[in-house]
Amino acid sequence: MSPQFIIDASFIAAAFLFIYGLKRMSSPVTARSGIVVAGWGMLVAVLASFLYYFGVTEAAKPHLLGNAAVALIALVLGVSWAWWSGKKVAMTAMPQMVALYNGMGGGSAAAIAAMVLLQPVPADGAAGHGLVHYLVTVLGGLIGAVSLSGSLIAWAKLDERIKGTWRYTGLQAVNGAVMLLTLAIGGYIVFAMHGHAPPMVVVGFFAAALVFGVFMTMPIGGADMPVVISLYNAFTGLAVGAEGYVLQNPALMIAGMVVGSAGTLLTLLMAKAMNRSVSNVIFSNFGVTGDEAQGEIKGSMKPVEAGDAGIQMRYGSKVIIAPGYGLAVAQAQHKLYEFVKLCEAQGVEVKFAIHPVAGRMPGHMNVLLAEAGVPYDIIFDMEDINGEFKEADFALVIGANDTVNPAARTNKSSPIYGMPILNVDQAKQAFVVKRGQGKGYSGVENELFFKDNTNMVYGDAQKVLVSMIQAVKSLEGGGH
Ligand code: TAP
Repeated sequence: MSPQFIIDASFIAAAFLFIYGLKRMSSPVTARSGIVVAGWGMLVAVLASFLYYFGVTEAAKPHLLGNAAVALIALVLGVSWAWWSGKKVAMTAMPQMVALYNGMGGGSAAAIAAMVLLQPVPADGAAGHGLVHYLVTVLGGLIGAVSLSGSLIAWAKLDERIKGTWRYTGLQAVNGAVMLLTLAIGGYIVFAMHGHAPPMVVVGFFAAALVFGVFMTMPIGGADMPVVISLYNAFTGLAVGAEGYVLQNPALMIAGMVVGSAGTLLTLLMAKAMNRSVSNVIFSNFGVTGDEAQGEIKGSMKPVEAGDAGIQMRYGSKVIIAPGYGLAVAQAQHKLYEFVKLCEAQGVEVKFAIHPVAGRMPGHMNVLLAEAGVPYDIIFDMEDINGEFKEADFALVIGANDTVNPAARTNKSSPIYGMPILNVDQAKQAFVVKRGQGKGYSGVENELFFKDNTNMVYGDAQKVLVSMIQAVKSLEGGGH
């Protein structure tokens, strides 16, 4: 068996494992094994890439050992860091980690492009590769560099290391100018210099692309950040796929295409769930801040004790729970399910209503509830359950805010206007569990909290649920 045959067969096997893994990730039941399958695919692809060394030309052989050593060091560093950070990261910090990984993927693609573009002109005067080769190199490098700097800014914003967003007159014009400059240098490298531009021009191209990534991401904020992360994920896939073509490495091409298409679909789905277009997210999210857009809200927030709220729900016949990011922060999913089981034991019908962008990642709430053992048949997507709120005696909002804000339906100047929301306000009575009077992720005040039939249950979700459980148990004579 020739090394080339083993390499080709390994890449086909890796591609199969990537796609089969992705397929399994589409259901919560098989998602975990899907990740493992795709991980094996990546291992096969990496090993197959090393097999390339057996097929290199005589001229390249003197560099073999040095190159393999550098690649191995990079692999050990990368694997150890990913292993350590993957184990350490909290579920609520997952978007930041995804942003960092996207950035590194984009940066790697840009590094490959830089390496190709900085290669000296062949000594024999041969023209080297054709136009398409350099066009794909430059496009991949551009998208990769934008994804690198943009993802780093997104990470810093999500991690609250950068606060605030850029909003100034002429912002779009400045961004447009930086983009045109980057494209112009890229075009010069490909069409005028046929891929062999002086190093300073190549450096200028990447610097402009990196600046463009920063300028593009700085004005985006609030509820749009998770969409941007997903967009950069798609960008990274495209960039890696393009550089895979440049290196003629099928594993990179396939992995890049899979990430690029999955990322694009995810971005579109998330934007659709918020009733926004992707271009709207990228180009229009400035000029209006939550505070400026806020009209005057009538009414007041009416607090109630956790135990009282718990007992009222135990005597209800139908309760719909709307979980959000705060549930994940408090890690209160187990206590929540314990409370649900107590209510169900009294004949209360309990259902969960999942907003498509509740939390900070797609599927965030489903994963959280699955972790606590909540059966899938009482968990409903927004469109399937929204009609049932008006029949519910109680809606219990736990650590959710923007996803239940009626301003999204009525207030045209609100940054979340147009986003579909859970119809919590239509329930006969709503209880909202949160720590204080803090606003939601988008920074807007929530009209729901001021309504006559809404009561606030202040406190950390975990502590509130413990009090609710104790109160219900004490009724049944179970004590604490
Ligand atoms: P948020 O609007 O962020 O509201 C979470 C609430 O939880 C806050 O009001 C906070 O109030 C409360 N909270 C925080 N820690 C808590 C704790 N330990 N115990 C109890 N409550 C706690 O969350 P959401 O309703 O899930 O909305 C998600 C946001 O992300 C939306 O703006 C959405 O558009 C955006 N977004 C998400 C996605 C995806 S895919 N998930 C995509 C795009 C956009 P206190 O500080 O008063 O406690």
